[in-house]
Amino acid sequence: MAEVAAPEALTLRAIGIGDAALGAELSRRVGWPYRREDWEFAIGLGHGVVGVRDGKLVATALWWPYGDSHATLGMVIVAPEAQGGGIGRRLMQALLVQTEGRSLMLNATAAGEPLYTRLGFRPHGGVRQHHGNVYSVAAPDLAAGEQLRPGNTADLPILEHLDRAATGLERGPTLAALLGCGECLVLERAGQPIGFSILRAFGRGHVIGPVVATDEADARTLIACWLHGRAGQFIRVDLPLGSGLGDWLAQHGLAPAGDVVAMVRGDLPAAPGPARLHALINQALG
Ligand SMILES: CC(C)(COP(=O)(O)OP(=O)(O)OC[C@H]1O[C@@H](n2cnc3c(N)ncnc32)[C@H](O)[C@@H]1OP(=O)(O)O)[C@@H](O)C(=O)NCCC(=O)NCCS
Repeated sequence: MAEVAAPEALTLRAIGIGDAALGAELSRRVGWPYRREDWEFAIGLGHGVVGVRDGKLVATALWWPYGDSHATLGMVIVAPEAQGGGIGRRLMQALLVQTEGRSLMLNATAAGEPLYTRLGFRPHGGVRQHHGNVYSVAAPDLAAGEQLRPGNTADLPILEHLDRAATGLERGPTLAALLGCGECLVLERAGQPIGFSILRAFGRGHVIGPVVATDEADARTLIACWLHGRAGQFIRVDLPLGSGLGDWLAQHGLAPAGDVVAMVRGDLPAAPGPARLHALINQALG
């Protein structure tokens, strides 16, 4: 059996944009589709640590602040040959120090769940990934008085307001960054913005998320508008577990591709609604 070096042989340092290419290589080795650009986006928005052993980057863990009270954690990866030696635990302990005083949320793989449970995280739900090459999808039918229009940075206060209602979180900087790299559509009814969705390049193709809307009918509209005209393209959507949109996505080529467990350490944010989060930005960012 391969020998696992003692965790003391590991050096931790702050992650930087320059680590994106090695991060992409590391995530590829554990079967995750992140591209270098996805790492640059995630590193640019947050903080985190890398573990270096024998001059080689062997581990990463990141976190993203949402306001002063909350944060999400993600991209916790230990290279396959270094797993099981306490490195994941050491990385997580470093993040717990950096995020002290915040309530923390993450989406745990089966590999990560025991580690997080030992550190005081508890399950509160889940996320189901749907992905695939989309079939031919009709443009959504809009009712009288409804309109879909492109969103841009001038809409940021509207997006922040809807997103805060749906998540209870302050995600302004993340939404601004998403507008910078993706395309946004805002759904209006009687001239009032009632939801939005963002499409961006991610992983093996594109991801649709976040999708913020009051009900699933509006969320479907805000997803169908992106699926329409993209037959054959690879698209991913991460739905909260229990969403009624899963069967509909599968019928359009986006099959279920695995679940993760949503966990929290501290308090879950109180989302006032009526808007709800129907699809995540991605599993790391929530
Ligand atoms: C999850 C991951 C980061 C853990 O890193 P690691 O360095 O192997 O973990 P550690 O050796 O520090 O173990 C952490 C703790 O979990 C426990 N643990 C690990 N795997 C376990 C399992 N399958 N069942 C029960 N406990 C387990 C360890 O015993 C240890 O607990 P202890 O410190 O109280 O003894 C690593 O397996 C990994 O990169 N997996 C692939 C990517 C991934 O899924 N990341 C998680 C994203 S949410």
